[in-house]
Amino acid sequence: MIRAADIHDLDALYELEELCFAERRFQKEHLLYILKNPRAATFVFENGGVLGTLMVLDERVVTRVLSVGVHPRHRREGIGTQLMRVAEDTARRFHTTEVRLEVNANNPGALAFYKALGYEVMSRLPRYYSWGDDAFAMRKPIAILARKP
Ligand SMILES: CC(C)(COP(=O)(O)OP(=O)(O)OC[C@H]1O[C@@H](n2cnc3c(N)ncnc32)[C@H](O)[C@@H]1OP(=O)(O)O)[C@@H](O)C(=O)NCCC(=O)NCCS
Repeated sequence: MIRAADIHDLDALYELEELCFAERRFQKEHLLYILKNPRAATFVFENGGVLGTLMVLDERVVTRVLSVGVHPRHRREGIGTQLMRVAEDTARRFHTTEVRLEVNANNPGALAFYKALGYEVMSRLPRYYSWGDDAFAMRKPIAILARKP
């Protein structure tokens, strides 16, 4: 089940960040800032514990995926796909027409994941990360919800 996260999920969010990201992990203060940010939305996938997380930010024209992570023992079970579907639904709710994200150029698994979901590489961002790795900027236009008559 995917649900909106709240302040009580802070520890679980942090633990999953630690499991998913070697170099770049959000500090607890940053996670708290995102949880409290009215322009951001945080979700958890739960099944007997938090197995996946998603953080997105409304940037007015586009919605940015700040982070998506799935517990290492539960990858390739479709959890990431479900979370990204929520990212796209949230982008529509934000009335944005595109989802954007950055992915480490040395993370072929995540790159393949995003490509499988229809994201395209816009550009390569040299030394995007503080530790010197490049990123790929990716995007996916999303269909706008039809207006109610
Ligand atoms: C990237 C990540 C979120 C994918 O989550 P997931 O739940 O394993 O993804 P899914 O099971 O929904 O995968 C959907 C499809 O994406 C592709 N894919 C996913 N992981 C892949 C990998 N490691 N290598 C190649 N293709 C992959 C496949 O086509 C897969 O379909 P299939 O399993 O039927 O072949 C997960 O591997 C993860 O948490 N990685 C560490 C954190 C990270 O890198 N996050 C993204 C950058 S912010």
